[in-house]
Amino acid sequence: MSSPSKSGQWIHVGTVDRLDESGAAITFDIDQSRFLGGFVIKRGDQVYAYVNRCPHNGSRLDWVPGELFDESGEHLICATHGAVFEPETGKCVGGPCINQALIPLAVQLKLQNIYVEVLPSLLS
Ligand code: FES
Repeated sequence: MSSPSKSGQWIHVGTVDRLDESGAAITFDIDQSRFLGGFVIKRGDQVYAYVNRCPHNGSRLDWVPGELFDESGEHLICATHGAVFEPETGKCVGGPCINQALIPLAVQLKLQNIYVEVLPSLLS
């Protein structure tokens, strides 16, 4: 979880009770006109958010909204060509974009509410 910056816009994306260790995720829109979105996941006590865009060719990771983990539940997986990512870092550890990474988004929790920071650079 991160501190807010002065330049970002914080958006409410849901509540922590929608996330669990089995791989449940929350997806949300960042810029509907460009089909740009993000997702939030929970690992242990930590909540992570990323732009839902694969570094390989820019596809969303999920075919089915909110289904982002592989069968093992250990890695995020891109449904297009199978790149796998570490949930805690967003780093690609297998597939066509190995060693590239998802774009992380800052997260803040207030009580059970999850807020994600959208930087202006994502909206331009
Ligand atoms: S678009 Fe994600 S692996 Fe190709």
